[in-house]
Amino acid sequence: MASASASASLESATRGAKSSAALEFLKSSPKKLLINGKWVPSKSGKTFETLNPANEQVLALVAEGDKADVDEAVKYARKAYEDAKWANLSPHARTGLLLKIADLIEQHADELAELETLDNGKPLFESRNIDIPGAAETFRYYAGFATKIYGETNPSDPSMFNYTLREPVGVCGQIIPWNFPLLMASWKIAPALACGNVVILKPAEQTPLTAIRLGELICEAGLPEGVVQIVTGFGPGAGSSIAEHPDIDKVAFTGSTEVGKLILQASAGNLKRVSLELGGKSPNIIFPDADMPAAVFGSSLGIFLNQGQVCCAGSRVFVQESVYDQFTDSLSKMASGLTLGNPLDPNTRMGPLVSKEQHDRVKGYLKAGKEEGAKAKTGGEPGKQEAGYFIQPTVFTGVNNQMKIAREEIFGPVASAIPFKDEADVVFQSNDTTYGLAAGVWTKDINRALTIARKLKAGTVWINTYSVLDPISPFGGYKQSGFGRELGKYAIDLYTQIKSVYARIG
Ligand code: NAI
Ligand code: MG
Repeated sequence: MASASASASLESATRGAKSSAALEFLKSSPKKLLINGKWVPSKSGKTFETLNPANEQVLALVAEGDKADVDEAVKYARKAYEDAKWANLSPHARTGLLLKIADLIEQHADELAELETLDNGKPLFESRNIDIPGAAETFRYYAGFATKIYGETNPSDPSMFNYTLREPVGVCGQIIPWNFPLLMASWKIAPALACGNVVILKPAEQTPLTAIRLGELICEAGLPEGVVQIVTGFGPGAGSSIAEHPDIDKVAFTGSTEVGKLILQASAGNLKRVSLELGGKSPNIIFPDADMPAAVFGSSLGIFLNQGQVCCAGSRVFVQESVYDQFTDSLSKMASGLTLGNPLDPNTRMGPLVSKEQHDRVKGYLKAGKEEGAKAKTGGEPGKQEAGYFIQPTVFTGVNNQMKIAREEIFGPVASAIPFKDEADVVFQSNDTTYGLAAGVWTKDINRALTIARKLKAGTVWINTYSVLDPISPFGGYKQSGFGRELGKYAIDLYTQIKSVYARIG
């Protein structure tokens, strides 16, 4: 009886899903933790629910890992690391296994895209075209690095031979958010493994499903046991136990600036290496000489992609005074034309926010914006759907850079459009923020674009485009957007340490 009602409720939670593999995966609930190559329940036996944010129904129960489970995961990860099951594998073999993971992600792309959309709410259009291919591409890119991590020989005194080795850091704890669940798992796991580390990944409690499925694919690819652990659970509990653990060598975190500070404090116990990719309030600057249709489209993508739940979202849209009304009209028209609805529908361009908590937070900012005197030129309200955490794509005009909606990360589909006078004014206002993750500038004057790109205090600057990310290029923050650079060859610095060896000759 229980199972008949469970399958009826799963059917309604997944309405619109087509992938039979995704449905099969969801049927085997509760989901377990991956420790030492085996799927095990949490030691406490506790589980938590993960919901479909489009209809607020339960998709699956998931093991709630806690300190005891993290201890267990660290024990086996340490053993795998010290036994050098992974680091001492030939780099070519490591490349082969990482390529196999990439292939498996691609082979299961339809299933993974539906799982991602069910768990997170992002349009299938995005998960199928951005998240899942991006995850495969990241594994493929770092697969190539396993054979290209070089040391150096150094011009020492002739009586010495001095060289450096680039060695793995060891046991890496990786804590990721819910906005790009599989993609963030890939950004973390792929470079760490390429460098010979072992990992313990904690997915966000809102979106654990694709990380669990990735764990299964990693086992299928044939990685040695203990190299990858997946411990699902909450921030305080599983996450904090990773940050504090005395036998974890490095922690990599993506999420809020507030929790980033806690991670840094917790790392002091054993002086873990820390890399942090945190929040943003990125400026996106529109000059009157920009290609306007391209700027409108790019700015819309910059703030509305993934319902605005993007750390590098162009959430402060700075528009030069002479084109402010024209530009914000066009951006509002584009926003109101985005189809809001069931994210499994291939025509949907905006789904629900990830959770009730996020929905409440964004509604709070819509209210704050209006109270401070900004005007919602379009949107400004929750969606009209019967259930689910929908918010209408919103463009606020009449915003100044001191308002709460211009200073705090909203993490929702809300653009704050701010007028500016000239180059000096917009550079000052753009940099007048505690964050520094990304920035955009739209102009046909290439000298102006390059000059401003130098002046902006941000880890990524886009010129006449926005939201472009490629594993070849570094990503990370200035100021309180964090430190350390993921992606590109820079991630190799995060996941290796350098040993200098002196040998006396003769
Ligand atoms: P969060 O920072 O609390 O969550 C991110 C991850 O950290 C999750 O895996 C969570 O379980 C874990 N975590 C939470 N508390 C922890 C602790 N004390 N120790 C160790 N791990 C912990 O973010 P949340 O609450 O989901 O979202 C709040 C705001 O954070 C958003 O509105 C947004 O402004 C920002 N955010 C930024 C992200 C980014 O990509 N930079 C991603 C997610 C959220
Ligand atoms: Mg969920």
